[in-house]
Amino acid sequence: MKKLLSLFIMLLVFASCKNESENYVDIRGEEFSGSESCIQCHQNISEISMQNSHFKASMPGIKENLLGDFDKDKDAFVYNPNLKLKMHEQNDSLYQVVYYNDKIVEFHPFDIVFGTKHAQTSMFWKDEKAFELPISYYKSTNGWATSPGFDSKNPFFGRQVLKDCFSCHSSNIKSPQPKGASVGQEYGSSEISGKLDRNSIVYGIDCERCHGPAKKHVQYHLKFPKATTSKFIVTHFSLNNQQKLDRCAVCHSGNQDIKLKSRFDFRPGDSLSNFYLNKNKTLKDASFDVHGNQAELLKQSMCFKKNNALNCVTCHNPHTNAEKSTEYYSNICINCHQESSKVFCKSKSVNKKNCIDCHMPKQNSKAIRFTVSGNDKTQFYSLKTHKIGIYKTKNSINTMKN
Ligand code: HEC
Ligand code: HEC
Ligand code: HEC
Ligand code: HEC
Ligand code: HEC
Ligand code: HEC
Ligand code: HEC
Repeated sequence: MKKLLSLFIMLLVFASCKNESENYVDIRGEEFSGSESCIQCHQNISEISMQNSHFKASMPGIKENLLGDFDKDKDAFVYNPNLKLKMHEQNDSLYQVVYYNDKIVEFHPFDIVFGTKHAQTSMFWKDEKAFELPISYYKSTNGWATSPGFDSKNPFFGRQVLKDCFSCHSSNIKSPQPKGASVGQEYGSSEISGKLDRNSIVYGIDCERCHGPAKKHVQYHLKFPKATTSKFIVTHFSLNNQQKLDRCAVCHSGNQDIKLKSRFDFRPGDSLSNFYLNKNKTLKDASFDVHGNQAELLKQSMCFKKNNALNCVTCHNPHTNAEKSTEYYSNICINCHQESSKVFCKSKSVNKKNCIDCHMPKQNSKAIRFTVSGNDKTQFYSLKTHKIGIYKTKNSINTMKN
C-alpha cells in the first residue's frame, strides 16, 4: 500500500513538471530549490554572483580551481635538505607528496579547496573525515607556504577540518548523527565527532545560504509569472538593522563564541544571539582579529554606535566582490561626513578620494601567520580593519621578525 501510494505521488509530481527546477531534488531538503533555478528570473544577479568569492568559497580540488603552481621550479616546499614536499599531478588528480631522501613516504590528494582571494587552503578525505593539507597557497608571497599554524620543520597530515569550517565556507555538509544522541546533544556531538558525508556538500555560499530556502518562492512565481511583488522570500527591507547585520555576521563575526546551534540553520531574520552564547554582549574594548571578524570591529566604530542604520550592505554589494577603489568607499563616508558639516575630517592632509587608508588601515591578523620555503621569517596576513577610527599611521603593517 505504502509503495503504491508513493508511486502515485511520484506520478503526480512528474505529471505536474513543467520545468526542470521542479524536478530537481536538493540535497538540503525539499524546501530548497538550488541556485540554478534562480537564473531564469534573476539573470543579472545570478551571473555576477556565481563569479564572486562567496560562490567560490569552497570548490572541488581540480586543476582549474587551484591557484598554486605545479610547474617544476615552483612546486616544492623544502622542510630540510632531506625532507621536502612536492605538488604532483597524475591522471587528472593532484597531490601533495612527501619525499625523504628522494623516496616517497606519504601523499594525499587535493579533494577540496577553500578560498580564491588572498589565499587557498586544501583538504583531503580519509575515513569520512576531512584533513587540511600542510601547504597552502598565498597571493601575497605568490607561492606555496605553510598552512596557518602548521610547522615549517615537519609535514603534518593529522589536522582535521571540522563541520564548523564548512559552515562558513560552504552551503551544506551533513554529519551522521551519533547513535542514541538525545535531541539536546545532537548539535554538539555531531559537530565534534567530525565525521562528514562527503556526498552531501554544496560548495560555496549560494543564493539560498543567504536568502534561506526558496522552493516555495520559485514555485509561486512560476505559477504566477505576472506577479511583481515577491512572495515566500525574506525581504531585506523588512529586517531591522541588527537583523541586517546578523545575516552577514553569522560568518563574519569570528569564531570565539560558544555556539548553541549550527550556522547552517541560520535564516535571514534570525537573531545571532540564538546561535551563540552571549552574542551582542561583547566587551567594548575587546580586541578582535581583522580576519573573519568585520562585524565586531565595525560595531566598535563611532560611526556604528552613533548611527543605527549602518550595516555591511551600506558599503558592500552582497552579490559582487569587495569594490577595490578607495574613492568608491570614500564617497560613502562623505554621505555621512559632509565637508560642510561639523563631523568632517579635522586632518590637514585629508584626501577626499581616500579616507580608507587613514581610517581603516591594514593590520596584521593574529590568527593567520605562515612561513615560506627556505625562510624562517614569519609572514603576516593583513587586511583593512573594520574598526573605523583615528589611527596614528596609515596602513600600519608591522613586519616583526618571528
Ligand atoms: C519564476 C520566477 C522566479 C524565480 C525562479 C525566482 N524568483 Fe526571486 N523573485 C521573483 C519576482 C517576480 C520577484 C519580485 C521582483 C523582484 O524583486 O525582482 C522576486 C524577488 C526576489 C527577491 C527579493 C525579495 C525582496 O522583495 O526584497 C529575492 C531575495 C529573491 N527573489 C530570491 C530568489 C532566489 C534565491 C531564487 C532561486 C532559489 C529565486 N528568487 C527564484 C521571481 C522569481
Ligand atoms: C555562510 C557564510 C557567509 C555569509 C552568510 C556571508 N559571508 Fe561574506 N564571506 C564568507 C567567506 C567564507 C568569505 C571568503 C570567501 C573566499 O574568499 O573564499 C567571504 C567574503 C566576503 C567578502 C570579500 C569578497 C571579495 O572577494 O572581495 C565580502 C565583501 C563579504 N564576504 C561580505 C559579506 C556580506 C556583506 C554579507 C551579508 C550580506 C556576507 N558576506 C555574508 C562567508 C560568508
Ligand atoms: C552573501 C549573501 C548573499 C548571497 C550569496 C546572495 N544574496 Fe541576494 N541579497 C543579499 C542581500 C543582503 C540582499 C539585500 C540587499 C540589497 O538589496 O542589496 C540581497 C538582495 C537580493 C535581491 C533583491 C534586490 C535586487 O537587487 O533585486 C535578489 C533578487 C537577490 N538578492 C537574489 C539573489 C540570487 C538569485 C542569488 C544567487 C545567485 C543571491 N541573491 C545570492 C545577500 C545575498
Ligand atoms: C566563522 C566563520 C569562519 C570559519 C569557522 C572559518 N572561516 Fe575561513 N574565512 C571566513 C571569512 C569571513 C573569510 C574572508 C574574510 C576575512 O579573511 O576576514 C575567510 C577566509 C579564509 C581563507 C582565505 C580565503 C581567500 O579567498 O583569500 C581561507 C583559506 C580560509 N578562510 C580557510 C578556513 C579553514 C581551513 C577553516 C577551518 C579550519 C576556516 N576557514 C574557518 C570565515 C570563516
Ligand atoms: C551611516 C553614516 C556613517 C558612515 C557611512 C560613516 N560614518 Fe563615520 N561617523 C558617523 C557618525 C554618526 C559618527 C559620530 C560622530 C559624532 O561623534 O557625533 C562618526 C564618527 C567617525 C569618526 C570619528 C571616530 C572617533 O573614534 O572619534 C571617524 C574618523 C569617521 N567617522 C570616519 C568615517 C570613514 C572614514 C567612513 C567611511 C569608511 C565613515 N566614517 C562612514 C557616521 C558615519
Ligand atoms: C563604511 C564602509 C564599510 C562597511 C560598513 C563595511 N565594510 Fe567591509 N570593507 C570596506 C572597505 C573600505 C574594504 C577594503 C576593500 C579593499 O581593500 O579593496 C572592505 C573589505 C571587506 C572585506 C574583504 C577583506 C579583504 O581584504 O579581502 C570583507 C570580507 C568585508 N569588507 C566584510 C564586511 C562585512 C561583513 C561588513 C559588515 C559587518 C562590512 N564589511 C562593512 C568598507 C566597509
Ligand atoms: C592623511 C590621513 C587622513 C585622511 C586621508 C582622512 N583623514 Fe579623517 N582624520 C585624520 C586624522 C589624523 C584625524 C584626527 C584629527 C584631529 O583630531 O586633530 C581625522 C579625523 C577625522 C574625523 C573626526 C572629526 C572630529 O570631529 O573629531 C572624521 C569624521 C574624519 N576624519 C573623516 C574623514 C573622511 C570622511 C575622510 C575622507 C573624505 C578622511 N577623514 C580622510 C586623518 C585622515
